[in-house]
Amino acid sequence: MKKVKASAPGKLLLFGEHAVVYDKPCIVTAVDRRVHVEASFNGKEELIVSAPQMGVLDYKRKVKELCSQEMPKQVSFIEALVKRFYQKYGFDKGCFIRTKSDFSHTFGFGSSSAVTVATATALAKLYKINFSKKELFDLCYKAVLDIQGVGSGFDLAAALWGGTIYYIKGAKEVFKLKIKSLPIVVVYSGVKADTPTLVRQVAEFKRKNPKKINNIFKNIEKIVEQGKLEIEKKDWEKVGALMLENQGLLEELGVNTLRLEKLVKKAVSTGAYGAKLSGAGGGDCMIALCKKSDKIRVEKALENVGGKVMKVGLNAKGVVCKKI
Ligand code: PMV
Repeated sequence: MKKVKASAPGKLLLFGEHAVVYDKPCIVTAVDRRVHVEASFNGKEELIVSAPQMGVLDYKRKVKELCSQEMPKQVSFIEALVKRFYQKYGFDKGCFIRTKSDFSHTFGFGSSSAVTVATATALAKLYKINFSKKELFDLCYKAVLDIQGVGSGFDLAAALWGGTIYYIKGAKEVFKLKIKSLPIVVVYSGVKADTPTLVRQVAEFKRKNPKKINNIFKNIEKIVEQGKLEIEKKDWEKVGALMLENQGLLEELGVNTLRLEKLVKKAVSTGAYGAKLSGAGGGDCMIALCKKSDKIRVEKALENVGGKVMKVGLNAKGVVCKKI
């Protein structure tokens, strides 16, 4: 086999951020912006990575020295994944990995998780290993934790399974919701969120106020359970109300920002059923649920208050892979 190509989607969290880190469920949807990976053997005992959009050209590391030194951030997830993959299967035959992304890493669509999943899937095909999705998930999750130290793995699940998923940490449960589309407007707040820092901030908050935070997480869990039912029923009015409730709890968790709140308020005052931040908070995207007929009006209003409307499709396909 000469070359393998894989692509995996980015994601957006609909409900349950932060609580999902503490074993509560969340609902995540895959977006139709993807990270593409090409993998081939290189005849050497080294990993060679090119990610031209990230300014990385022919980054080289001996297979035996993977992750042994400081790594540039742009290749760290790939290097950790390749190391985990080689360790598990005892390979030392080097490979070439080339990546291309449909989206900038600043939007919070999960470029790191998508590149990790696409690389793992491409390598499995290149080295002719039959993985189940759960085995691939476990491998990718270990690599992500090697680099980030924290996280629920919800983004990896979206990249692997695609669609819109009810998810519990470590892929203990992955359940695809039966829907075709979601009438959601996605708006970038203009600020890049620092997810690991926010996760640690909530952990610290929880350490100081365990009762309060556990209570918030329980309420978020109820919203996720209800959200799952209402999304499948397409009762958008109820889904919107749940989004606002979830947003209120994220505010209580201390991860909301003035900019995100302004976008949420604007969306609702221009006719959206509901809106909330998506992801760790502190920035990244806001999502608003609205009728098709209100969409353009809501989008315009959000642009007028500084939001950047992202034309993304949701409920997208999970990782795909082919030989070339
Ligand atoms: O910032 P994002 O879009 O990667 O979302 C983070 C979601 C958290 O629940 C805060 C962390 C996690 O890994 O689940």
